[in-house]
Amino acid sequence: MTQPLGATARHLVRDDADQVAATAADLILEACDDECSVGLATGSSPLGAYDEIVRRVRAGTAPRRVARRGYLLDEYLGLPVGDRNSYASVIRREVADALGLEVRGPDGQAADPDAEAERYGREVAEARVAVQVLGIGRNGHLGFNEPGSALDSRTRVVRLTETTRRDNARFFDSLAEVPTHAITQGLGTIMQARRLVLIALGERKADAVRAALHGPVDPACPASVLQRHPDSYLVTDRAAAGEPGADR
Ligand code: F6R
Repeated sequence: MTQPLGATARHLVRDDADQVAATAADLILEACDDECSVGLATGSSPLGAYDEIVRRVRAGTAPRRVARRGYLLDEYLGLPVGDRNSYASVIRREVADALGLEVRGPDGQAADPDAEAERYGREVAEARVAVQVLGIGRNGHLGFNEPGSALDSRTRVVRLTETTRRDNARFFDSLAEVPTHAITQGLGTIMQARRLVLIALGERKADAVRAALHGPVDPACPASVLQRHPDSYLVTDRAAAGEPGADR
C-alpha cells in the first residue's frame, strides 16, 4: 500500500484482477448495510467486484441484502426505454437484479434533460450514498466528467467527447448509434458519498492512476478529486499501479 504525502486517497495494489475484485468487494460490503444506497458505475472495471459480491451473497458469506438501492453514476440521453445499452439496463443485468437492488437513475428520455439532471442530483444527495463504486477513464475521467470538469460540479447534462464515444462504440452496432449526450453525477455529487472505491486494471490506466494519486488536485484529472475525500480508495492491479513488467 502506498499513500502519497498530503493525500487521503489510499492506494491498494493487488497481484491480479481476482484479488482486486476481492479487496474492492471487502471495502464495498464494509460500508453497506441492508437499508443503504450504493452508487454503481458501469464499465468493465467493477465487474469482478460485482461478481464477487454476488458470489458471497449466494455462498452465505455476505448478508442476503447488502443494500436497498443502487444509484447510477451516469446515464445516456436518448436511448429507448429498456435499451440494452442504457446504463439502467446494464446495471440491472450485471449486478442489481442478482442482489435485489432497486435501481435509481436519471431518466434518459426526459423532455427537459437539464431539469432531470438537477432532480437526480438532489435525489442522490438525499439518498446519502454509503459507497460509490467508480472506474477511471484513460484521461482521468470519472463518470462522464471529462477533463476540465469543475471539481465541485453538479449532476448535469454533458456532451460526450469523441474519444469516449469511440471507446464506448464497442457495445453498439455502429459509432453513429452511440448517444452524443449523457447525464452524469457531478464531481461534487460523487464526493458526497461516504466512501469512494475506484477500481482500475491494466497498464492502459497507469497514467490516469498516477495523475489521480500523485498529481495536483485539478480539473485536468477529474479523478484527482479523490485526494480530497476522507474515505477514498483506489484498488488497482500492479499494471495499473505502473509497476514495470506487470501485465505484459
Ligand atoms: C461508468 C463510467 C466511466 C467508466 C470509465 C472506465 O459508469 O462512467 O467513467 O467508469 O470509463 O471504464 P472501464 O471500467 O470500462 O475501463
